[in-house]
Amino acid sequence: MKFGTFDDARREYVITRPDTPLPWINYLGCETYFGIISNTAGGYSFYRDARMRRLTRYRYNNAPLDFGGRYIYLRDAADGAYWSPSWQPTKTKLDDYTCRHGMGYTTIASTFKGIRAETRYFVPLGETLEIWTTTITNTRATAADLDLFSSLEFALWEAWDDATNYQRNYSTGQVEVEDGVIYHKTEYRERRDHFAYFACSESLAGFDTQRDAFLGAYRDWREPLAVEQGALTNSIAHGWQPMGAHQVKLTLQPGETRTVTFVLGYHENPQDAKFDPPGSQTINKQIVKPVISKYLQPANVEAAFEALRAYWADLLGIFQVHTPDAHVDRMVNVWNAYQNMVTFNMSRSTSLYESGIGRGMGFRDSNQDLLGFVHMVPERARERILDIASTQLPNGGAYHQYQPLTKRGNNDVGSNFNDDPLWLILGVAAYLKESGDWSVLDALVPYDNAAGTETPLYEHLQRSLQYTLDRLGPHGLPLIGRADWNDCLNLNCFSDTPGQSFQTTTNKDGKVAESVLIAGLFVLAADELADIALARGLQAEAQRYRDEAAKMVTVTDEHGWDGAWFKRAYDDFGQPVGSSVCEEGQIFIEPQGICVMAGIGLADGRATKALDSVATRLATPHGIVLQQPAYSRYHLNLGEISSYPPGYKENAGVFCHTNPWIMIAEAMLGRGEAAFDYYQRINPSAREAISEVHRCEPYVYAQMIAGIDAATHGEAKNSWLSGTAAWNYVAITQWLLGIRPTLNGLQVAPVLPASWPGFTVTRRFQGVTYTIEVVRRGPGTQVALEVDGASVHGDVVPRPKPGVSAVSVRASLGS
Ligand code: BGC
Ligand code: NOJ
Repeated sequence: MKFGTFDDARREYVITRPDTPLPWINYLGCETYFGIISNTAGGYSFYRDARMRRLTRYRYNNAPLDFGGRYIYLRDAADGAYWSPSWQPTKTKLDDYTCRHGMGYTTIASTFKGIRAETRYFVPLGETLEIWTTTITNTRATAADLDLFSSLEFALWEAWDDATNYQRNYSTGQVEVEDGVIYHKTEYRERRDHFAYFACSESLAGFDTQRDAFLGAYRDWREPLAVEQGALTNSIAHGWQPMGAHQVKLTLQPGETRTVTFVLGYHENPQDAKFDPPGSQTINKQIVKPVISKYLQPANVEAAFEALRAYWADLLGIFQVHTPDAHVDRMVNVWNAYQNMVTFNMSRSTSLYESGIGRGMGFRDSNQDLLGFVHMVPERARERILDIASTQLPNGGAYHQYQPLTKRGNNDVGSNFNDDPLWLILGVAAYLKESGDWSVLDALVPYDNAAGTETPLYEHLQRSLQYTLDRLGPHGLPLIGRADWNDCLNLNCFSDTPGQSFQTTTNKDGKVAESVLIAGLFVLAADELADIALARGLQAEAQRYRDEAAKMVTVTDEHGWDGAWFKRAYDDFGQPVGSSVCEEGQIFIEPQGICVMAGIGLADGRATKALDSVATRLATPHGIVLQQPAYSRYHLNLGEISSYPPGYKENAGVFCHTNPWIMIAEAMLGRGEAAFDYYQRINPSAREAISEVHRCEPYVYAQMIAGIDAATHGEAKNSWLSGTAAWNYVAITQWLLGIRPTLNGLQVAPVLPASWPGFTVTRRFQGVTYTIEVVRRGPGTQVALEVDGASVHGDVVPRPKPGVSAVSVRASLGS
């Protein structure tokens, strides 16, 4: 069952009924000012950091789940009836409803009793504000006397404090209202130099800034008293809950349309120019006033909106495909790329499942996210790499997380997730392949942000690799530390105390438990670093990395192979995890993916065997589960993985992040049918038709789909912010479609179902636009390339001569 439909041409998802199984959200903003917005106008906004600079309030885990937002109300003066054109909060039965989530904007439209209302929300590029444009049309045969109300609730800036410190916060709230603009200035009188403003393009019939005055005592957003009575009260907040609401009176003749614009913005004044006049307690509004008037002009708003559309068209234009499969096209061309940019902007901070308060930027997460956006914003990827590397510790290790505002490592979560440093090598390698910017390796980067410790970035990579070699366990496999990629496989934790953090509690000295996943990751990273070293003319060093990789392969062969698949780990007792000898958790997905990607077992058939085991033991129609059999009880020696009920999250859920590793591994074996089949099982667009089962948004990936052991097999959770986005994008674009940046140029090596006749791609790469046409000649994966009409050897398009900006490639596939 569907709740909407893709509008591919406009790059929008059109939701056609408001009661989606879960709130289906979108993101506003792409630089410094951001918000989330649901299909019923729920959500909140913040400047840069969702915890420290929260503009508007949102209550997580509410009933209904999504409550609080950017709500508009309409009231018909004739009979006093009022409604929300976004359905929530009044939930009036609307005559029609659509929500269009687009690239950085959302438009919600509906009709009720002949009044059509459409509100478009977006953040102009380069600004720290959002614009709501509401267009009201009277489709009745008679004139309509309407009142239009805006409403939002201000957060007192620090979201955690806002949600907990009531003894103080109920007394601190302050606002100013000047020329109809509502200014929220809580704590501006003391140490804050920022404030929010909420403006309206029309002259006001009233306003409110005190929540209780607007809602009335014992009422909520479904039935605001002031709206019911048709008159806002001009309240001024003194403490309690500051809010912003405007009232505009509209008399519309039959067929008449009126547009009302609202602007919500954030501004920081210089410390010495906070007040106007100086010495007063009144906000200095000199800088914001012209900005406000600019965006209350419809022509300027439309220009800014077109600029936003052009920005996305340009970004997405970097990689466009035309294939026989609509799900592939819309995910690659639009939604997967868009989700990658959202993970670039948000990391793991703000979604329906991430409260904006909790996790910082993950060292490992950020390096993996980079794989999905590096081609769109290489300069920003470079900056991100340098930020991440600056938090690396001198011993090559890493803080597991760092804070986005300070860019410092986060001491609360600490270090010793032993896979972390290796992801930096993969991130930098991806950046080099995409950009060809070798200078990044010479950039001077500190350790733990300490001045004076700078070395070239290249040395950070060397230390990353060495970090693993310095921490080998009894079998010669890498010690796992707190955890590797699977944060929930906590082999040194042994936690028996409720509420203790699985991430930070370590009760064992960590000298025994080893990870086969890190072994595979090490081989992958060592090979990448060897290639980089070789390209820099460091033959001996490159050879050393190859030798270390080969040694690790031998150890993995001996101690990491279980007979029909790769083992997952050894626990603190030296017992295997992910082995046929285990009672539960006999086979895990991660090492099958990563070890095959590292080339382990490719030559001797073990890779094939491992992937066949995945197919028979882990694959379900809803994707590949993380392990089997699921843990039916809590295992002290395994930790959080066994804390989840069977089928959920890491305990045998379909952890979508890892599925693409198997797709890539299948592609490496040349098995296009299997790779593509796995791709489609979790492709959100391909699951749109079962939205009542999947429940999350059909336009973006979710971290998890409940596994075969779950009561709700097939139900997705944790949509949007997940490494799933980047890895699926890498799998489909680089390994299935096979358009792969390498250190030597753009490779064309598709591995696809034999039934595909071919496809075309436009790819901008290092300043050149490649138009690639792939035509199937026969079965198999062999490629013959013609570049601008001349056949070339191999499957890498040679770099064009300087000055050439367009190249045409024809690839014959199969034999
Ligand atoms: C989740 C993991 C996550 C970890 C760290 C766990 O509860 O299951 O997916 O990585 O927390 O935040
Ligand atoms: C979510 C984390 O962000 C990711 O890095 C991790 O690897 C998975 N959880 C698996 O536990």
